[in-house]
Amino acid sequence: FDAVDIITTKRDGGTLSPDQIDWVLDAYTRGRVGDEQMAALAMAIRIRGMDSGEIRQWTRAMIASGERMDFGTLSKPTADKHSTGGVGDKITLPLAPLVAVFGVAVPQLSGRGLGHTGGTLDKLESIPGWRADLTNEEIHAQLEDLGPVICAAGTGLAPADKKLYALRDTTGTVDSIPLIASSIMSKKIAEGTGTLVLDVKVGSGAFMKRLPDAQELARTMVELGTGAGVSTSALITDMSVPLGRTVGNALEVRESVEVLAGGGPRDVVELTVALATEMVSRAGEGERDVAAALKDGRAMDMWRRMISAQGGDPDAPLPTAREKQHVRATKSGIVTEMDALRVGYASWRLGAGRARKGDAVQAAAGIEIHKVVGEAIEAGEPLFTLHTDEPNRFERAVDMLDGATIIDGNAAQSRGSVILDR
Ligand code: URA
Repeated sequence: FDAVDIITTKRDGGTLSPDQIDWVLDAYTRGRVGDEQMAALAMAIRIRGMDSGEIRQWTRAMIASGERMDFGTLSKPTADKHSTGGVGDKITLPLAPLVAVFGVAVPQLSGRGLGHTGGTLDKLESIPGWRADLTNEEIHAQLEDLGPVICAAGTGLAPADKKLYALRDTTGTVDSIPLIASSIMSKKIAEGTGTLVLDVKVGSGAFMKRLPDAQELARTMVELGTGAGVSTSALITDMSVPLGRTVGNALEVRESVEVLAGGGPRDVVELTVALATEMVSRAGEGERDVAAALKDGRAMDMWRRMISAQGGDPDAPLPTAREKQHVRATKSGIVTEMDALRVGYASWRLGAGRARKGDAVQAAAGIEIHKVVGEAIEAGEPLFTLHTDEPNRFERAVDMLDGATIIDGNAAQSRGSVILDR
């Protein structure tokens, strides 16, 4: 095979054969096809697309590039959730222990954030002592003995994707439905979960800005999962506004703990309960009243055990920022819009996210949202509180939030369900 031949086939709108796909991904993983050639191929795929057979083969080849985990020896079913990423999306934190209450093991292999959407591991690392890196043996033991594990995805799963995703990130080829679907599903299938529930985000803060694109991404991923023997379903959920009332690392842990204590913002609770219900029932444990486990302390108890099992102290105070600043409403009325992307970028500018892989993030940086869509505010009342350790970051964050929110003096708007489709 010849890389140039494969690139030009796709460039000219042709279909890649299974053998071509296997060869090019294997050669890329081994360093025999260079970044420049793979970048050209990714751009050709971004522009020309792939048919469902090509996507299936591309996904298989990425899985074949690394190890596969096998949870078949566990005494309980496994269920995992994947979100395509959003602003204030802390759902994994309350979800994993909640699902585990019902006898389901939850292997939630996660990542650190890149760009404006925070990473689950970054959030949990704000808990003193908590450890993201577990060996495969530790993961198995915690799944069997306790149930929920949120930890770093080992480097052994789909190494082709690791390389390719970093390349796409710097070549304008992230937003391709075939490449996103195969990237996510190769890791999830290699991880070995029995059930997978996808939370596909749509709106300004998400990869997919329009509902039809989110629906196509969801259908593509469900098809890939189902075809590989994983019981897969997807919810399409709103990411036009931030999820909940906090964006940041420690701030999102705090809000997750509120949800586990039976409180928390309505949208976060709604989505957590919907995803947990889906995971528990698809894993074969029936239609259960998962909301009750948030109210009666069972999910909180599981959370505390999960954090302790990974070296964290669930009672330790979370880090707080050295500096805080309010952003106040300039008029009175109802909040009718709050742009998720701008809030995400502002939080990033405060230090909650990283600009480059490997950068440190501030545990305490981020944004508290005092009034969400549908709520009334008076001119001069705080709308946001910005948190950071470095006050020179405030100005750029404030600029980003300028115009992010619409307050309407006459509106009577309440926010609908975050779940838009399934
Ligand atoms: N998340 C992934 O893992 N891969 C993508 O391509 C996009 C989001």
